Amino acid sequence: MSESEISRRGVLSSALWAGIGGVAVGAATGGGAAWAMAASTPPSDDQIDLSRSYPFYGQNHQGGVATEPQRNAVYMTFRFADSADRHALQSLLARWSAAAAVLQQGKPIGSVQPGVEVQPPTDTGEAFGLSPASLTITVGLGPSVFGPRFGLASKKPALFSELPTLNGDFLDPRLTGGDLSVQACADDPQVCYHAVRNLARLGRSIVSPHWAVLGFGRASAGPGQSTPRNLLGFKDGTRNISSPADYDRFVWIKGGDQPWLEGGTYQVARKIRQLLETWDSDRVGNQQQIIGRHKESGAPLTGSAEFDTPDFGAKSGAGDPVIDPLSHVALAAHENNGGIMIRRRSYNYTDGLDPTGQLNAGLLFISYQNDPRHFIDIQNRLGAHDLLNEYIRHIGSAIFAVPPAPEEGHYLAQGLF
Ligand code: HEM
Repeated sequence: MSESEISRRGVLSSALWAGIGGVAVGAATGGGAAWAMAASTPPSDDQIDLSRSYPFYGQNHQGGVATEPQRNAVYMTFRFADSADRHALQSLLARWSAAAAVLQQGKPIGSVQPGVEVQPPTDTGEAFGLSPASLTITVGLGPSVFGPRFGLASKKPALFSELPTLNGDFLDPRLTGGDLSVQACADDPQVCYHAVRNLARLGRSIVSPHWAVLGFGRASAGPGQSTPRNLLGFKDGTRNISSPADYDRFVWIKGGDQPWLEGGTYQVARKIRQLLETWDSDRVGNQQQIIGRHKESGAPLTGSAEFDTPDFGAKSGAGDPVIDPLSHVALAAHENNGGIMIRRRSYNYTDGLDPTGQLNAGLLFISYQNDPRHFIDIQNRLGAHDLLNEYIRHIGSAIFAVPPAPEEGHYLAQGLF
């Protein structure tokens, strides 16, 4: 089903719920049982309001972290040009901030068709006439920003450095690291693409694209959203950070050593290939043992409903643990990790086929946490023991500090300068 069909269904079913006659809708769509069903099904979060927009300024935190996950993402990291200096970085962050504020309102960042024909357009134009689609732009600064080049070493947060080599790394240098990152999420893939493309264009004398992932099908949920599925066919995001108290405790930086990063967070991005042909030939019982949950319902193996709390101590009649201690959820759960939680905000991706004709797809895993160690510790446990490792490869990786959102009239990370 295409994006426009999904949103059309959402719009139409909300129209039905608002009391517009089913006859008119049936006539407009060709009618049929599917639409009759929509009339008797309560509205769900599958409805998309493409006109929705988020402000960029004055939000304390940048969007795209706690924001209800949108359906699509484009994630790109950038490398500095050799000539980039402190002033260039400052001016880039100011230009990106101004552009992000306009893009999030669904507007072009300049003229799509300049009056003077010899001028190239300022905005590339592919989102012209499209709605804001809940676009959020999230900008991150890599550890290299605090290297000798910009004279910002004294502004480096003590907790922040490149990720060490982790258990389970199969990293491709072409998909690893980056000086800056841009995550654009929206309910229209073209809106995401347009945003990142135009930010890259604005910055092109200062930064060049390093690696990028086009994400589709959110693999996480926000409050009130139903839990989506990743490409393994399992619900992903059932147990995730969602309460303001947990955001304050585990995601937002508070009382850190760098005032410019107060209210910010750390972003970890991992491109994780899934070996789908192998996974698809596995028995469902084995798949469920590997994840620790039932496939259809998403319930833990010790429960019957998705949001039942897993009982990691439960034993079968034969005395074996019902949830395998080496299953993904047993290793990742906060109960077994000193109470630590991370905010996962991932997307599925596909790069088509690999050179051998295998499906080239996986998870663009993105997590937000106020201490990178939290990701590192969980991944080191997973990378060493997770039954899922047979079916996945961590091929890309990067870490960024995500400053808070600027106030109107200011720009991202202004406190650095
Ligand atoms: C392709 C890679 C991955 C897949 C397919 C995957 C899939 C899943 C699934 C299906 C769940 C259960 C549903 C839920 O509670 O959300 C889950 C839970 C979880 N995953 Fe992953 N995951 C992957 C990678 C990772 C990585 C790299 C991390 C962190 C380093 C991670 C951390 C977690 C955590 C913390 C939970 C919640 C566990 C709980 O509290 O029960 N996952 N994942």
